[in-house]
Amino acid sequence: MILVYLAVVGSLLLALAVVLAPLRKAPRPFPENPRPQELRIELEALKREVKELSGPERVRLLKRIAWIERELGIVRQREAARADRARVRFPAWGALLLAAGGIVLAAVLVQYTLPRLPGGTVTEAFALEEARTLRSLQARAERENTPEAWLAYADYAFELRDLERAAQGYARVIELDPRNPRAYRRYGMILFFAGRAKEAAEILSVVTRVDPDPEGLLFLGNAYFQLGEYERAIAAWKEYLSRGGESRERVESLIEAARARLTARSPGEAVFAQKCAACHGAQGEGGIGPKLAKNPILNVPEAVIEIVRNGRGAMPAIPMTDEEMTALLAFLREL
Ligand code: HEC
Repeated sequence: MILVYLAVVGSLLLALAVVLAPLRKAPRPFPENPRPQELRIELEALKREVKELSGPERVRLLKRIAWIERELGIVRQREAARADRARVRFPAWGALLLAAGGIVLAAVLVQYTLPRLPGGTVTEAFALEEARTLRSLQARAERENTPEAWLAYADYAFELRDLERAAQGYARVIELDPRNPRAYRRYGMILFFAGRAKEAAEILSVVTRVDPDPEGLLFLGNAYFQLGEYERAIAAWKEYLSRGGESRERVESLIEAARARLTARSPGEAVFAQKCAACHGAQGEGGIGPKLAKNPILNVPEAVIEIVRNGRGAMPAIPMTDEEMTALLAFLREL
């Protein structure tokens, strides 16, 4: 169907281009020779007259004859040139004919392959046909009330991105066949589309254990990623790749993005790692310096600032910008 639509649009554009092309280079007007036919008649008359003349009169006529012959020669050349141009232009006419043929063919195809709708556009025709198919699938599902019929209806709705109907359809499948992994999986995907990443992750993590379909693994990864659970997202996407998921490149770059998020530290954590961790431990658990994690002194930011700026005992003063200090204090509160 889409091919037919493309064929119509394509041949219309082609025809338009071909029709408009000659207009762009309009032929240059050139001064038309004054009536070659009349010149020829005059020439015949002069040739007859000249035989009976002599002296200067004869010379005048001969000159006139010579001029007319020259003129007619030029005319012939111009006519030949024009004929050449006409011959050059022929392929354009051929293309025009071809394009016209294309339009007729496309029109015939549209006429016989699409439902005829007075006044309706081609896209409307597609939408109407889809809606009709969906309705008939729904009618069949209601009549038969089998998981298979509801699944066919829900799958078609899902394909059309009519997620509400798809969700209803999959819910009916689950009612009739509570172990149908496809219905659960699609339901989970729809939850993700609806912005309910947490519920999506719950459903998909269960269903992908039963049926590790790539589609489910992909969306499980998406849901975890959205929730900020990057390690789980990476695991789901890796399994997606190992099960032969098709969007290999896209998922590989998603895995990279998740890894980047995983290693990215908050600015405060970065300051701590660089300026404090060596003495107070990577997690503030204590080392050369005392334990900072859950240290009550952290509840008094002024005291911490004072110690850091001026040092205390074995701890040197540690220079830093106000921004770094703000970020550091935020990180210390989380320890
Ligand atoms: C060269 C090692 C060293 C570095 C670097 C260092 N400290 Fe200290 N820090 C110490 C020592 C040693 C003490 C104990 C000082 C004392 O009371 O004698 C201490 C004490 C502290 C105290 C007081 C703890 C308490 O319970 O009294 C705080 C708060 C503190 N440091 C924060 C920081 C912060 C924040 C950084 C990074 C910006 C940092 N320190 C960097 C060695 C260090």
